[in-house]
Amino acid sequence: MKTFLKFPDGFWWGAAMSGPQSEGWAGKRYENIMDTWYRTRREDFFDGVGPDVTSDFFHRFEEDFRRMKEAGIHSFRTSVQWTRLIADFETGKPDAQGVAFYRSMIEAAKKNGIELVLNLHHFDMPTILFERYGGWESRHVVELFAKFAKTAFECFGNDVRFWTTFNEPMVIVDGGYLYGYHYPGLKGEGRRGVQVLYHLCLASAMAVEQYRKLGLKGKIGLIVNVTPAYSKSNGEADQNAARFFDWFHWRSFLDVSILGRFPEELVDVLRRDGVLWNAKEEDEALLMANRIDFAGINYYHPTRVQAPDSITETGWLPDRYYAHYDWPQKRVNASKNWEIFPRALYDVAMAMKTLYPDTPWFVSECGIGVHDEERFRDPEGVIDDAYRIAFFEEHLEWLHQAIQEGADCFGFHVWAALDCWSWNNAYRNRYGLIEVDLSDQRRTMKRSGTWYRKVSMRNGLEK
Ligand code: NOJ
Repeated sequence: MKTFLKFPDGFWWGAAMSGPQSEGWAGKRYENIMDTWYRTRREDFFDGVGPDVTSDFFHRFEEDFRRMKEAGIHSFRTSVQWTRLIADFETGKPDAQGVAFYRSMIEAAKKNGIELVLNLHHFDMPTILFERYGGWESRHVVELFAKFAKTAFECFGNDVRFWTTFNEPMVIVDGGYLYGYHYPGLKGEGRRGVQVLYHLCLASAMAVEQYRKLGLKGKIGLIVNVTPAYSKSNGEADQNAARFFDWFHWRSFLDVSILGRFPEELVDVLRRDGVLWNAKEEDEALLMANRIDFAGINYYHPTRVQAPDSITETGWLPDRYYAHYDWPQKRVNASKNWEIFPRALYDVAMAMKTLYPDTPWFVSECGIGVHDEERFRDPEGVIDDAYRIAFFEEHLEWLHQAIQEGADCFGFHVWAALDCWSWNNAYRNRYGLIEVDLSDQRRTMKRSGTWYRKVSMRNGLEK
């Protein structure tokens, strides 16, 4: 017999996207670092498709909100682009056209009964701040970010009740300074990466400070990508490897923004290795005083780690403490890339409960990227993405279990509402509940969209 898994009343069924991945180059805005990368090195992007070609949310948000509603989406996260809202980065003065765009977008969401979550930074550093000051390596840029945040809150803080400071700040560190898959594409720059990590934490806290100063009635949080580590064995060395992975990759950001301080063990290791960040004395109090109200957890896949054989690298990299290995039972998706391990969502939820018992959180992204979804188009012309439905079902079962056991999770956002542009992967992997045909921007609901509507309407699903 089937059981119905009911989620708590008021549970958010929603979806996420981001400004730079959905708006395109329409409207007036400054260049960000991904635009620059694309302008200068087009060949680095899958099929040469860049952030200029996206789902054109800029012009089509009215239609998109209507379609989201049809897919049962009641809450939606996107981002305010620093490069669109701000006319003068040094003062934080807003741009009139930018303000007008966001106002009408917020209005349209409201009209469709969609709760907006606005995020402030989704990897989109203004190029000029990178060129002039070195981006997140610069403390001055941290201060400019706080000015941008203040402007965003002043303009829209009364209309939007949920804010987040950053999306996946670890990707900026990892991708930009350690492993080279995001701008500026550096590898092995551990010391600089650690400084960036610190500045991102500080920037988030400074944005929270601005929010509190304005006495706004909503809530502010931070979105972190959690790829929990599972160690190869119960042996001490493997266990230590997993612990270090978690400290560095996600507990760093969550500890500091929820508890007000970094994990001591992490600080000890970084100090011992001589790569600890530069900080000012007053930062400690600032971090402690400006903590978040809620967290967003982006979950896609776990990480399998073991102790490294030896340390070979000359510069400092966090993986001197762990090595990856292939789990023999590994399941992969229809595009054979990321491991599918739904149980990890339960483990993450229980870790949130243990580590941060007083902080509510939601799954701010979860999804499956599949290439060439044309393969799955049915005779009615609809993408029959049964793999996506199965993926969500399994993850929701585990999430439900964790909520039953006391995890304070208030919502689930799929990535993504519509197919949208994914950094270097461009449109290689499609994630949407709603298909976007790039040739004419036509939108078509996938089977997963219809399925999601049912889950949302019933506030749960059958197992
Ligand atoms: C995480 C990021 O927030 C988003 O920008 C990205 O496209 C998705 N995951 C899919 O990889």
